Amino acid sequence: MTILITGGAGYIGSHTCVEFLKAGYNIIVLDNFCNSDRQVIDYIKQISSKNFKYYECDLCNKAQINRIFMENKIDSVIHFAGLKSVPESVKNPLKYYENNITGTINLLDAMNSHQVVNIVFSSSATVYGMNNKVPYNEDMPLSATNPYGWTKVMIEQIIKDYAAANTSFRVAILRYFNPIGAHPSGLLGEKPEGLPSNLMPYICQTSIGKLPYLKVCGTDFETKDGTGIRDYIHVCDIANGHLKALELLNKKSGVFIYNLGSGTGTSVLELITTFEKVNEMQLPRMNCNRRPGDISVSYADIHKAKKELGWKINYTLEDMCRDSWNYIKKFKECNNI
Ligand code: NAD
Ligand code: WQD
Repeated sequence: MTILITGGAGYIGSHTCVEFLKAGYNIIVLDNFCNSDRQVIDYIKQISSKNFKYYECDLCNKAQINRIFMENKIDSVIHFAGLKSVPESVKNPLKYYENNITGTINLLDAMNSHQVVNIVFSSSATVYGMNNKVPYNEDMPLSATNPYGWTKVMIEQIIKDYAAANTSFRVAILRYFNPIGAHPSGLLGEKPEGLPSNLMPYICQTSIGKLPYLKVCGTDFETKDGTGIRDYIHVCDIANGHLKALELLNKKSGVFIYNLGSGTGTSVLELITTFEKVNEMQLPRMNCNRRPGDISVSYADIHKAKKELGWKINYTLEDMCRDSWNYIKKFKECNNI
């Protein structure tokens, strides 16, 4: 079985490549490296002791995508490639709509031309918007609060419409909550570039002294300690969810939607103190205002993924904090930052 992994050099994609190689699949990576390094390809090969092809290809370029489908017999697609920064999407919405939506339409079109019917798509908890009650389940109404989030809502709809018109199509839409952590080898993780907008990359950059202090954004939420609550999940558990989803598509046709989270809420302060405890350090921090549009609590109902995919969680919050630190420490040593 040959799986095309778009965005396979990225944070979640690279861990998923390892998972599929370990399980004996043949993979092909497609990435334009706009938010990843070519070196990641070597690390995936090193960890898995397996070889695979990769293409430097932009999903906005139809001719390049078609070439990949022409040159290879692809059985299934796992589609990670996309831009993911919420603040950047607010500043430059057209870039996000163009890259994420046009890229996905081009991919679906190429799959259609080459009779490829299985796709696993990276969606996000962001599609639950601001008005649902926790825990979020897959049947709740969708909305978004920023252009990035809308690209996910729109792509979900495009994929569902396409599947309705092409009944042989098989789709798993996976809604990730807050993926953190890194591969236990320390070779793969979330690349520390620019000023991070997410909490764990911020913690990591502060832990190596790249940023002077942590910002706790909002201490007046209606939560146990006043800080925002989220559902953190180890990136390797997310990667394994893709394997389980593709196993399902190989058996059953239809459109399947699953939350991938831990099912538990953790506050900003709990995450920071767990990171400090596990890694034996103290991080300087400062209380700040809430970020505009931030909700107080988000966590997943994960019963459906557990029951229908037979997916289970193998990593704890402590593992996530230990592996994130292990990666950033190694990255700092290797890159002299
Ligand atoms: P990432 O930026 O690390 O990986 C995305 C990869 O896609 C990168 O390697 C980038 O170079 C590539 N890419 C982007 N646009 C492309 C294009 N037009 N053509 C080819 N390659 C392109 O991001 P990630 O954290 O690994 O996220 C993967 C997917 O999961 C994204 O779709 C993201 O929206 C979604 N997601 C991420 C999170 C999260 O917190 N990390 C949460 C929910 C959903
Ligand atoms: C977590 C908590 C912040 C930074 C984002 C995207 C969402 C999805 C997941 C892709 C919140 C607080 C943050 C900081 C802080 N990504 N915080 N100091 O908000 O759940 O969602 O990532 O699909 O689309 O919006 O995650 O990591 O940004 O924030 O105190 O420097 O940490 O207020 O409570 P979020 P996050």
